Amino acid sequence: MKYTIKALEPFGVLIQALDKDYSVEDISIDLLKKYFDQDKLIILRGFKTFSTSTSFANYCERWGEISVWPFGKVLDLTKHQNPEDHIFDNNYVPLHWDGMYRPEIPEYQIFHCLNAPANDQGGQTVFSNTSIIIDKAPAELIDLWKKVNVRYTRQMEFYNSTTFSPLIIKHPYKDKLVIRYNEPPAKDIPDFINPPGIEFFGIDKNQLETMQLKLQESLHSPEAFYAHTWHNNDIVIADNFTLLHGRQAYAKKSGRHLQRVHVNSSPKFKNPGLETYL
Ligand SMILES: [Fe+2]
Repeated sequence: MKYTIKALEPFGVLIQALDKDYSVEDISIDLLKKYFDQDKLIILRGFKTFSTSTSFANYCERWGEISVWPFGKVLDLTKHQNPEDHIFDNNYVPLHWDGMYRPEIPEYQIFHCLNAPANDQGGQTVFSNTSIIIDKAPAELIDLWKKVNVRYTRQMEFYNSTTFSPLIIKHPYKDKLVIRYNEPPAKDIPDFINPPGIEFFGIDKNQLETMQLKLQESLHSPEAFYAHTWHNNDIVIADNFTLLHGRQAYAKKSGRHLQRVHVNSSPKFKNPGLETYL
């Protein structure tokens, strides 16, 4: 055996190479897709990975059709000098799902860590497994959440979009319910750059704050929440249909550098909530 497989808590699987010359490309995609279906999050650690963006994109293409952005297939996630958006800053990023402002919503997010922050520098990518939350939540809470719809507006260099989404939707291809939510940025982060507009419908004003707090608490509860501390060359594959994800703040000078590719489901999933896209 060239790698070990270990279940993570509360969800996910860590596949770790025993031989540093073993390439991540040599693990069967069919096998990885079985873990993906079952565990929703795969961490591949210690493998030989990719020396160029093109070789990384070519690998991702083996998972399915890549969702191409205005910048191309591979997004470099680093701290920019003078960021115009929180994505390129070093502060925290609230939970959300990818593609929510785009015409198609990718099923797979594939990350490659080119440079991990040091242990004490933060920068964890965080994941919340909304299927676990739905399974554990009392029926009255699910009934309340089912009544809520949210309109999100966001303008940044890659789009100017409005999306309207129920808080709870059916998974695009499975008989499961999932939560779709973009958490409003915490009020105590005054320098959060370019926050989205978030407007709630289907809930009384006097119930809104309590509902949001309970939702927040559920999304961050230890039984559904995993914070991934990056190691150099980690490859992480996350289920964007079931999980929500975000980021913890990191030290400015950490040199954190991830690459991310979006891969569509087959057939591809058209964004059902997109109202405007410019
Ligand atoms: Fe994201």
